[in-house]
Amino acid sequence: MAQKPAPTWASYRDSIGDRSSLFSAITDQWPVERALYPGCYLDLSPSTAIHDVTYVDNDRRAATYFATPGLPESEAARARGDQTRGEGASAIEAPRITFHPADYTSPLPVPPHSTELLISLYAGPVWDNCRQYLAPRGLLLANTSHGDGSIAALEPDLELVAAVHHSGDRYRLRLTDLQSYLIPKSGAAPDVDTIRRNGRGIPYTRAAFAYIFRATS
Ligand SMILES: C[S@@+](CC[C@H](N)C(=O)[O-])C[C@H]1O[C@@H](n2cnc3c(N)ncnc32)[C@H](O)[C@@H]1O
Repeated sequence: MAQKPAPTWASYRDSIGDRSSLFSAITDQWPVERALYPGCYLDLSPSTAIHDVTYVDNDRRAATYFATPGLPESEAARARGDQTRGEGASAIEAPRITFHPADYTSPLPVPPHSTELLISLYAGPVWDNCRQYLAPRGLLLANTSHGDGSIAALEPDLELVAAVHHSGDRYRLRLTDLQSYLIPKSGAAPDVDTIRRNGRGIPYTRAAFAYIFRATS
């Protein structure tokens, strides 16, 4: 029987969609050169817009994908070319892609305060375990599926700077009217410890795909 081909970003994209436009919207707004993506699985979309991305996952399929020589680089370069066709694609620097096959709850070989964007999407308690890698005034992109977006909303050292919406593969940032987001549906919102214990975010009156927070120091 023929073996199923190993999954790649292209095959993963068929199930989750392409988030490239999310990261180009972020870099259009803020000068992000370096990002850290714990629990990335096969989502290579940050590398279509951000020069230097460090990916971390403890799933062996992710390790196999990222260890295939040239494959992530060529998938990212192809997608960057598709995005910028007709806009001087040749001027774009080759992406720098680093992968650590690691558990992000243990110390990572990443310098403290070195990343300008920490990505937490559907991958558990990334903020609590990886906040030390975020640069001063750095950005956290988080959704609420495992609680990070809701924990961040209650962090005194983070401020909400954008809400992320999407329709299919088209992502856009909402930068105004931010006070209308992150209002709990139920009157008495759970506290941070309850969110951590449950590993689930709070339902809000106005839904968004994710939120972008900036460290205030
Ligand atoms: C549901 S997938 C989400 C993947 C990607 N973030 C996305 O949004 O498409 C969660 C990924 O997080 C990884 N993960 C969960 N906990 C982890 C940990 N402690 N260390 C490293 N990877 C982890 C899993 O292996 C899995 O690949």
